Amino acid sequence: MRIDILTLFPEMFDGVLGSSILKRAINKQFLEVHTHDIRDYTTDKHRKADDYPFGGGAGMVMMIEPISRLIEKLKSEREYDAIYLMAPDGQQFNQQKANAMSMLNNIMILCGHYKGVDERVRDLYITEDLSIGDYVLSGGELAAMVITDALARIIPGVIGDSTSALSDSFQDGLLSAPVYTRPADFRGHRVPDVLLSGNDKLIAEWTLNQQLERTKARRPDLLGSQE
Ligand code: ADE
Repeated sequence: MRIDILTLFPEMFDGVLGSSILKRAINKQFLEVHTHDIRDYTTDKHRKADDYPFGGGAGMVMMIEPISRLIEKLKSEREYDAIYLMAPDGQQFNQQKANAMSMLNNIMILCGHYKGVDERVRDLYITEDLSIGDYVLSGGELAAMVITDALARIIPGVIGDSTSALSDSFQDGLLSAPVYTRPADFRGHRVPDVLLSGNDKLIAEWTLNQQLERTKARRPDLLGSQE
């Protein structure tokens, strides 16, 4: 999978792409991520990529020209399955969307900033707007990183233990069960006996039961949406 990220702040991605699972996915060539600085596509000598909103009001609006130059350049180089805009008023990103997006070959992610992007960018180029939650970030970069990470971990082969990503919370519509490691007894706080029993069937039953209990207690809305 190839992800092209269109941003005013490409340097924000360095640490995230160079660490942990994302670094592994990129090194093993399961994933290619390219960041592009929108300012490189301005014609203005001050590399201005935003301007005042028509009609007035507070804040600046990202201009269409540099964004369209960059999008059209990328589109001339390869086919894209989708172009996503990160915006707080987008559709809610979730595990289901991550699973579907991870099947795509080439996608672009445009990071919105300031008051937003000129609406004509949405009209002309954007397949879907995505939000990572009901709060406003300073820009779409952190959202793009969240989405890139969520996609990378479910690409087959990226995570060593192939069952590990499948047992993530939300993958089966339930939160995941609690996990424990050594020591079995920490200051009298013991790991549940069943996990030390070696009985796979009992462990599977316990795990499912914990998932159901935890989901009922913390996210009953998920149980309502099953079926
Ligand atoms: N940009 C600003 N806030 C955002 C959010 N919650 N999700 C996606 N992009 C954003």
